[in-house]
Amino acid sequence: MFMGKINVGVIGVGNCFAGLVQGIEYYKRNKTEKIGLMHETIGGYGIEDIRFTSAFDVAIDKVGKPLSEAIYADPNYVRWVDSVSTCGDTVVKEAPILDGVGVYVASMINPIKQKKSSAELRKEALDEIKRTDTEVLLNYLPVGSQKATEFWADVSLEAGCAFVNCIPVFIASNKRWEKRFVEKNLPIVGDDIKAQIGSTITHRTLTKLCVDRGAVIDRTYQINVGGNTDFANMLERERLTSKKISKTEAVRSLLPENSKLQDKDIYIGPSDFIPFLGNTKLAFIRIEGRMFANIPFNMELRLEVNDKANSGGVSIDALRCAKLAMDRKIGGALTYASAYFMKHPPIQIADEEARKKLDEWIAGVS
Ligand SMILES: NC(=O)c1ccc[n+]([C@@H]2O[C@H](COP(=O)([O-])OP(=O)(O)OC[C@H]3O[C@@H](n4cnc5c(N)ncnc54)[C@H](O)[C@@H]3O)[C@@H](O)[C@H]2O)c1
Repeated sequence: MFMGKINVGVIGVGNCFAGLVQGIEYYKRNKTEKIGLMHETIGGYGIEDIRFTSAFDVAIDKVGKPLSEAIYADPNYVRWVDSVSTCGDTVVKEAPILDGVGVYVASMINPIKQKKSSAELRKEALDEIKRTDTEVLLNYLPVGSQKATEFWADVSLEAGCAFVNCIPVFIASNKRWEKRFVEKNLPIVGDDIKAQIGSTITHRTLTKLCVDRGAVIDRTYQINVGGNTDFANMLERERLTSKKISKTEAVRSLLPENSKLQDKDIYIGPSDFIPFLGNTKLAFIRIEGRMFANIPFNMELRLEVNDKANSGGVSIDALRCAKLAMDRKIGGALTYASAYFMKHPPIQIADEEARKKLDEWIAGVS
């Protein structure tokens, strides 16, 4: 076991993971670089302390490959550095497909023909996690992977791992699942990662601005488009139910009780797939409201951002908080880490307050 290191297993070696691991490499090569980090260290853990000791996927071009190569396999588009040093000799292992591969991405992902049962793959995964001393599992499965996420949450519980759930399947924010993590005294951070400078945090900030300044919001929308497999997958509306809940609640939760918007007055969701955008994500946000003397106002914002830098900049902290909680023997959903890093935490807290509480928690004073 690497002492003082964080041994992470990843589920879904896609674009988000490629961004995370290449981002870590960027900081390892540029040791004085601090731009883009919310926390240089968390509980004494620096970025260079994160290592990827196990990995699970279903794509023909990834399973059986060294993880350090699989991150560059199509349809992963992240090419920030040409090699990475944090994956050791980790080889990507086969995961059960379950509901992981949607109709719009099947030809892009090209999943392996599975010969083993889920039970066999579960046993192999548990053996791999044990063999590699993996202590935190990072879930980066596609949107709509309800069964697959539950499979891995269950594996996490049996293996004694912390769980960081970056996707909109409700585990940390589901009382029944959260109780299981409490019973095993294992930490969980979730659900659905709130990107660093993404549409959710921006929309939340503008919403809070209006509320704090005494205005009322009458209508709002947030339209998101992108060109990677995440956006292609989200063309399948049936896979989107929890994503829409997660994104909408992240904004609606900041409105006062007496002016929560009705469904017809709030639209927030992934909206289209534009292939040439690749990992560039565009968000269009509009807020209509009324201010002093009931006078109307509106605002529009266009955000253009790399979707994968956005996710890596947050999961890098979520992972370290999960490990810190393991060290402190804290189990269950991490309230402040989940509220600050995730769109759909068990308890929604305004971001400024969540950040303050989180930093106190990291410092060991709350
Ligand atoms: N800013 C962001 O990028 C952001 C924000 C919030 C949430 N997320 C979520 O993070 C997740 C990952 O995003 P991404 O861009 O890396 O997606 P991706 O499509 O690039 O990667 C998904 C990976 O999962 C693999 N996979 C599919 N089914 C699987 C299964 N059953 N078991 C194991 N692996 C399987 C695919 O082969 C692929 O490698 C998505 O759910 C996305 O919505 C991302």
